[in-house]
Amino acid sequence: MSVLFTGATGFLGCRILRELLAGGGDEPVVVLGRGGEQSLRTRTEAALTWLDTPCLPPGALDRLRYLSGDITVPELGLSAQDRARTADGLTGIWHCAALLNLEGDPVPLYRSNVLGTRHVLDFAGHAPHARLLHLSTAYVAGRRLTGHVLEDDLSEEHGFQTSYEESKYTAERLVRAWARRGGRRATILRPGLLATDRPVPGHLPGQPLDALLRLIEHGLRARAALGRGLTRYLRNAGRRGDTLRIRIQADPDGEGNVVPAEYAARAMVRAAARTEEEAAVRTLHVTHPRNVSAEHLVAALRARYPAISVHLVPHVPDPTPFENLIAQQGAGVLGFSAQRRTYDRTNLLRAVGDLPGPEPVDHVYLARALDAGRTLLPA
Ligand SMILES: NC(=O)c1ccc[n+]([C@@H]2O[C@H](COP(=O)([O-])OP(=O)(O)OC[C@H]3O[C@@H](n4cnc5c(N)ncnc54)[C@H](OP(=O)(O)O)[C@@H]3O)[C@@H](O)[C@H]2O)c1
Repeated sequence: MSVLFTGATGFLGCRILRELLAGGGDEPVVVLGRGGEQSLRTRTEAALTWLDTPCLPPGALDRLRYLSGDITVPELGLSAQDRARTADGLTGIWHCAALLNLEGDPVPLYRSNVLGTRHVLDFAGHAPHARLLHLSTAYVAGRRLTGHVLEDDLSEEHGFQTSYEESKYTAERLVRAWARRGGRRATILRPGLLATDRPVPGHLPGQPLDALLRLIEHGLRARAALGRGLTRYLRNAGRRGDTLRIRIQADPDGEGNVVPAEYAARAMVRAAARTEEEAAVRTLHVTHPRNVSAEHLVAALRARYPAISVHLVPHVPDPTPFENLIAQQGAGVLGFSAQRRTYDRTNLLRAVGDLPGPEPVDHVYLARALDAGRTLLPA
């Protein structure tokens, strides 16, 4: 008996894997990932051992086996021999690997998230007793802005905000069709946007909020490069009481669902254990029970960068070059500000209702999460 795991080096993947190992047992876990097996081991162990919770039983890392593979390649890039050896006695497949770009070219997203899932499903055909745990996202709801999204809902009628959402939607469709056709069991896990308020060292996978920091700091650095010593200006501006005003076209009443990654990983591993005997497909919203408002994010940004003031406005007349840059590069992220929808959690709570809920995610949590980001401006 063994388990296959893709995406172990990822921000969420390594947390899920640590939870799995913390649960005890001696079932080997085969980590499939890119690069040579030694480098895969080094990267996976670095991520797993930097995290200090939950506690790992002695020898937990000895359960891990490493297998060089790539989900974008047919047969996951495995030889027939490796494929047969890995599929033999497999009881579960955690498919976490994906490409998470919110902007840019849809082709690599399709290749990783749609074809990648197709290849994992093909592989699962060789392991008839393995249940699939497929990582999707609550954002497969796409441009649906309002209402209460049920866990069984999966529709393209509203379109998609980003190619990422569309690719994850298509992957989920593939999983459902595969399970139906072959009478296979699959648990589809749909987290909200994941965050952590624990500092993440530079060599480990960062959190999605880092993208926002990168965007702002990229713009600030571009201004500093004009030779005006912006870093010094920013440092002193807070003291002087003047700020750099940035207008962003977004809805101040918009909401997003941000869920602490530690809670999400714990809930998923527990839910996987408890839905084990269930037939066919079950979908779980691993979301926060309460959305966080765009204004909370603005307040958190204010705490992180006292010398800038961000304003969400319906239109930005005469944008500055920096405001233009944010509008262009942040289009995918900023579109989320139009959302008001909420997420049903019935299946999740049925599986893990006894697990303490996630801590509140508000401007205080977001400020800590942004502080934990690693793209710090030079002092
Ligand atoms: N992070 C979020 O906020 C969030 C929210 C909702 C859903 N999700 C879903 O949760 C899952 C895990 O996300 P994450 O945060 O851990 O993502 P991540 O930090 O971006 O990590 C992606 C993982 O996928 C692996 N991978 C990418 N392309 C691959 C390929 N061609 N072959 C093999 N492995 C490949 C990466 O390996 P390398 O180390 O080689 O790059 C890495 O381990 C994804 O399915 C994502 O869609 C994430």
